[in-house]
Amino acid sequence: PTPNGSAHGFSNIVRKKLMGYVGFANLPNQVHRKSVKKGFQFTAMVVGESGLGKSTLINTLFNTQLYPRKVPLPPSAERPKTVAIESITADIEENGVRLRLTVVDTPGFGDFVDNDESWKPILENIEARFDEYLEQENRVNRQKIVDNRVHACLYFIQPTGHSLKQLDIEFMRRLHTKVNLIPVIAKADTLTDEEIVSFKQRVLSDIAEHNIRIFQAPIYENEDEETVAETEEIASKIPFAVVGSDQEVDTPDGRTVRGRSYPWGVVEVDNEDHCDFVKLRQMLVRTYMEELREHTNLHLYENWRSEKLHAMGVAQDSSVFKEVNPAAKLAEERTLHEAKLAKMEAEMRMVFQQKVSEKEARLKQSEEELYARHKEMKEALEKQRGELEDKKRRIESGRPLTPEKGGSRKKGFLRP
Ligand code: GTP
Repeated sequence: PTPNGSAHGFSNIVRKKLMGYVGFANLPNQVHRKSVKKGFQFTAMVVGESGLGKSTLINTLFNTQLYPRKVPLPPSAERPKTVAIESITADIEENGVRLRLTVVDTPGFGDFVDNDESWKPILENIEARFDEYLEQENRVNRQKIVDNRVHACLYFIQPTGHSLKQLDIEFMRRLHTKVNLIPVIAKADTLTDEEIVSFKQRVLSDIAEHNIRIFQAPIYENEDEETVAETEEIASKIPFAVVGSDQEVDTPDGRTVRGRSYPWGVVEVDNEDHCDFVKLRQMLVRTYMEELREHTNLHLYENWRSEKLHAMGVAQDSSVFKEVNPAAKLAEERTLHEAKLAKMEAEMRMVFQQKVSEKEARLKQSEEELYARHKEMKEALEKQRGELEDKKRRIESGRPLTPEKGGSRKKGFLRP
């Protein structure tokens, strides 16, 4: 026992203020660095009729030729009869941060004579990804969970300038509780500014009328004014009127930009006066990628999981239905952190205990060895004493001594 009375010195933990820099305050950064090192996974789905510029926009968003340039099928070619689901994964890196990006494409959507069930294979695919995640969560070894859930779905609206089509409404209605919907008006350069404004209004009123929930970046309590303004600015652009281009063109004033060149001028992708591409990128990549992942995990997936388990007759913890508010989230994070610290402490205690036991075992072993040696020596001495006493007795009784092994008999010691 140590002087403070506990077996290993852990029962009386004294809280002390550190006098200098030790370094574990950097733990949160280390955790962050670890996740940066491990990289992030993000899966985006693109849905919309053929030719609306889906692949071009993805290439433009991630500034990579993720999609090879497509060669249009000749009119005579055999076309698929159902919506297909195809995904492309790419590891991209920017300033040392790695992102495993998967884009799920849905070729064939809206391309048939009867498109009534076009949403079905897409919904099934999203749910299959939830299933796969749930299966991983239920495994004993949950170390390497791969998150293949769809974190955002870009829904491409044809730039008709009228209103949403039945196909659009049906898709969004069926999918809005399963995926973060981000509606975009495709090929916005084909509409005038005024047409875009009124088309956006009509799209939004259709969405509201059908109680469709689209992804909105949250505004947290105590958020600074600048962040609130930025979030509101992004929200005001929904549905994003986008222009995609993976080509660089020269502007009349001599700049080289990503854009589309027309006889009347150049539409610049990255110019906020020309389209909402920058705001969409902010929503999907720069500011709210983590928010999209979190919303998928905490709300869409959790609700799906609870419904599924309820359907299977398993009563769920009702807390998963609760809206997560920032204070509750903070409290939850603190509890998790405390649990982690407690775990670390327990582990340290275990290691200490183990070391003490090892030392004790070693001491015990050397004690036993010492005892054995002592015993051996004592026995050897006893034996020697016995022999000497035997010799003494023989000499005293005048009997001859037994000759030593290999020794010569000496005359004087023999009886006459
Ligand atoms: P599918 O693979 O058939 O589903 O097509 P997609 O939606 O992936 O369209 P894709 O990106 O292949 O673009 C189709 C055509 O539209 C190409 O010729 C593009 O150059 C053109 N395009 C793409 N984006 C825009 C845009 O913002 N404006 C205009 N005007 N054309 C675009």
